[in-house]
Amino acid sequence: MKSHAAETEEIELHLLLEAIYRKYHYDFRGYSPASLKRRFVQARTHFGCESFSQLQHKALHEPKIIDRLLPYLTVQVSEMFRDPSYFRALREKVIPHLRTYPSLKVWIAGCSAGEELYSMAILFREEGLESRTIFYATDINGDALEKARAGVFGLDRIALFTENHRRSGGKSSLSDYYTTGYGRAKFDPSLTQQTVFSDHSLVSDAVFAETHLVSCRNVLIYFNRELQDRAVGLFRESLVRKGFLGLGSKENLRFSSHSESFNEFDRDERIYQKQAEG
Ligand SMILES: C[S@@+](CC[C@H](N)C(=O)[O-])C[C@H]1O[C@@H](n2cnc3c(N)ncnc32)[C@H](O)[C@@H]1O
Repeated sequence: MKSHAAETEEIELHLLLEAIYRKYHYDFRGYSPASLKRRFVQARTHFGCESFSQLQHKALHEPKIIDRLLPYLTVQVSEMFRDPSYFRALREKVIPHLRTYPSLKVWIAGCSAGEELYSMAILFREEGLESRTIFYATDINGDALEKARAGVFGLDRIALFTENHRRSGGKSSLSDYYTTGYGRAKFDPSLTQQTVFSDHSLVSDAVFAETHLVSCRNVLIYFNRELQDRAVGLFRESLVRKGFLGLGSKENLRFSSHSESFNEFDRDERIYQKQAEG
């Protein structure tokens, strides 16, 4: 049985989520509770609050706080060519199919500060598909989207990015794509010339384009089953017949109500192909 304190905290957290939703329309109510609670505890400490109710009071009465709260609630961990074998599978197995289309649309959902987008843009450039591709890079975190637009990353991250790019089957040197200065690497803006950046929530927004490839990695893990289903439903609606869906290594469609609309294309890399009639 739950202790009195634990029960009270659960009610307070529930009310805090409701307050954030009602006031700011950010809907975290269906995120998986354990990791969400961990992040709210960090925020509570940061804002010097003793309880979630105090944090709720702050959130309701100090509207500017939401911008400072959001980074706590949306995990921003990412890296370029993260899980290189995923990008290798896209390069070797998915790109040959995509090549058959005269024009392409690629949706990077939950793009964070752009690491995945730049990886994809470089991959498409190296495979000669860049000029016929439009990328949609979406996230709910406005700061992250700004960073993605800027394409500037700390030099301390470049060794890892370079190694990942090489392991993904990169056809050139990563240094061809950025210039350095002031301890930072700025990626060539031409890489995102054909990118539409947009604030879009997989929890509450609708589909906005027909796509050939959706890459949504390390996002669904934060959602409960119902939200995961909603997001996969959006991807299914967005994808053309035989379009591809790439999920992160921690995610799969096994328990999804949409699983029958997809075939496993690359089981290890969690790449799915929408069925012809799906
Ligand atoms: C851990 S990052 C993943 C970044 C990148 N896809 C990767 O795999 O490296 C998770 C991202 O999902 C975003 N996110 C969280 N909830 C979201 C939602 N409802 N709709 C869209 N993006 C969301 C967060 O803001 C964050 O940028």
